[in-house]
Amino acid sequence: MTPVHWLDELEGRAAAALPEAVYAYYQQGAGRELTAAEATEAWDRLRFRPRVLRDVSAPTIATTVLGTPVQAPVLVGPTTLQRHAHPDGEIATATGAAAAGVLLGVTSNTGVPFDAIAATGAPWWLQIYLARDRGLTAELLRRAVAAGARAVVLTADTPVVGRKLGTGLGVWDLTPNEYLHANVDLTGYLEPALGKADDLSPDTIGWLAELTGLPVVVKGVLRADDARVCAAAGAAGVVVSTHGGRQLDGAVASARALPEVAKALAGTGVEVYVDGGIRRGEHVLAALALGARAVFVGRPVLWGLAADGAAGVQRVIAELADELVHAMQLIGAGSLTE
Ligand code: FNR
Repeated sequence: MTPVHWLDELEGRAAAALPEAVYAYYQQGAGRELTAAEATEAWDRLRFRPRVLRDVSAPTIATTVLGTPVQAPVLVGPTTLQRHAHPDGEIATATGAAAAGVLLGVTSNTGVPFDAIAATGAPWWLQIYLARDRGLTAELLRRAVAAGARAVVLTADTPVVGRKLGTGLGVWDLTPNEYLHANVDLTGYLEPALGKADDLSPDTIGWLAELTGLPVVVKGVLRADDARVCAAAGAAGVVVSTHGGRQLDGAVASARALPEVAKALAGTGVEVYVDGGIRRGEHVLAALALGARAVFVGRPVLWGLAADGAAGVQRVIAELADELVHAMQLIGAGSLTE
């Protein structure tokens, strides 16, 4: 019998703890789930060429992301509807991230107040979906800045929401309004104003930077030409991402897109991150070797949160960090730069 990896055991416990529709919603991808299914496989297909006869007695994995120190290059990605996984939602996630010494992305749909997330002490970046009514987005950004967000992550791969099928859609029947909008008062806004803006442009980056005074990271970049456009428009970072395979079904796996984006941005100072299907320390190692400064994890954090709350989130980061150190020792790298 194949031994069970800790993350598979954790996902199993999360699946048992969650209502079926919530687990399905977290787990699913868009369409036929071609991209979602391929994400981890694409990391698994990569092979290393280890170095030998090197000092790997004490690999260091602490680094910085946009100047913020983190204990490991494994960060918590922004995911919506976390209060279905744990009543405290991102407060528990942030508590776990703080204990692991890393930062988290907070979805613009978060169901808890920014101040409560900030009070955990974890550094955090606000992920933003632009609303059609830019005033509403501006209000959300003002509150995030006041609460101490350190960067804005513009999710650029969601001009419209990817179509998903199946049982996960039942999550919306279980979702009260306060699980989605804890930071802005929506009274008086009509439904169309709340819809996602589908007219983003490179200028959006400058608009966000000017409004907030914060560095802007563009999430969902899969091409070298787009990466160059982001850099020219003033982005401080990009996340190579397929949104967990939840947007365009058939989009190239992040593991495949990362090298061309990293190459396009080499020497520009724009930081490159990646997410999608990262489930093992070896996947993190591959991402770093291909030019990422750090990775984000999405679903594994939801499994930790649902199964064990903040302690579960801390464990996901700590275990991946531990596996990364182990893999670095075996590949002959004593530090992240090696
Ligand atoms: C997401 N993701 C996401 N991204 C974003 O920018 N804003 C959001 O609100 C959400 N919400 C969300 C919900 C759920 C349930 C999932 C699974 C994902 C995408 C997320 O940030 C990240 O890109 C992927 O989850 C990374 O892939 P893995 O680690 O889940 O495979």
